[in-house]
Amino acid sequence: MALDEFVAELDQLAEAAAESFSLATDASMLEELRVKILGAKSGQLKSVQKGLGKMDPADKPLAGKHFNQTKQRIDEAYSFAQQRLASVPSQQDSACFDATEPGRQPRIGHLHPITQTVQELKDIFGRLGFSVAEGPEIEDERHNFDALNIDPSHPARDPLDNFYLQTAHSGAASLDDEAKTVDCALESPWLLRSQTSTVQIRVMEENPPPIRIVSLGRVYRPDTADATHYPMFHQIEGLLVDTNVTMADLKTVLRIFCSSYLGEEVHVRFRPSFFPFTEPSVEVDMQWGEGWVEMGGAGMVDPNVFRAVGYDPEKVTGFAFGLGVERLCARRFGITDIREFFKNDVRFLEQF
Ligand code: FA5
Repeated sequence: MALDEFVAELDQLAEAAAESFSLATDASMLEELRVKILGAKSGQLKSVQKGLGKMDPADKPLAGKHFNQTKQRIDEAYSFAQQRLASVPSQQDSACFDATEPGRQPRIGHLHPITQTVQELKDIFGRLGFSVAEGPEIEDERHNFDALNIDPSHPARDPLDNFYLQTAHSGAASLDDEAKTVDCALESPWLLRSQTSTVQIRVMEENPPPIRIVSLGRVYRPDTADATHYPMFHQIEGLLVDTNVTMADLKTVLRIFCSSYLGEEVHVRFRPSFFPFTEPSVEVDMQWGEGWVEMGGAGMVDPNVFRAVGYDPEKVTGFAFGLGVERLCARRFGITDIREFFKNDVRFLEQF
């Protein structure tokens, strides 16, 4: 074999190899080309190398040198292609990413219907001039009972009708802090508040009359859950204290509230009742279909409550009311079982 023929063949192979390697689009394609060109047994370079044996011995050193240079060129072209492909995702990877596919839709939540109701009730009473007051959910007996004229023997204080919290005083708490333990022993027991009327007391203790507040929040009672009861529920408390406040003011405010929240056509009924902290007292019912549903209690603030917070009952009068938020929301949307609010079933909740 002539030297120039051998050199030409090597040059041609080097050029073709460099081009093939540069066109490889993934690692497996490159590997196929490597075997085809550089394969130790039957690669193209190997078959060109066989020409060396048929060569004039005088040409062999030059031919051998050119062969080695060419092999180095092809090896370099291969390494270069390898590096290039390492920085490009493989065909499999790029198949997973389709830029034209629609994006994943995140599920956007919204506020719970009771939270929405709480906000709407605050808005309605805000427009009637009531500001919002807050109170703690863990209360002492003064705010939940005593100052509300609920005397120690009243059945509403029965341990079976309330969630009392264990304290050092009751012998079962494990409070680390020694000082706290002493405080507890001296204080009356705590309980989860059973009504938002506690906030009436807290607001009047802190502020002189006139008062015009609503307070919305969770309250707790060991009631058996049924269509209209749950052991944790929400109340909206209202308190207005001023001079010359009458029952007519209370009825007007509740009627306006009811028609704002439930619609003009919904009737309100006031039934004589009893609460230790109001005199006279009423139950407030709202029409539901052919019947009525009890929404809450209300009345004129009892003089004993004014005395308990240091107000002069000869100078001020006031009304108070407390309505169940779950029942209001249920009435508004025609929900017949308030337990639905707490099942956390998205199919129910996403309707609101
Ligand atoms: C009270 O809680 C009084 N504090 C209301 C009040 C305030 C009267 C101010 C006078 C002046 P009562 O226990 O009736 O009253 O509860 C009021 C409303 O809370 C009920 O009418 C009802 O709508 C709701 N309610 C009571 N218990 C539950 C319960 N377990 N689950 C859901 N709602 C309840």
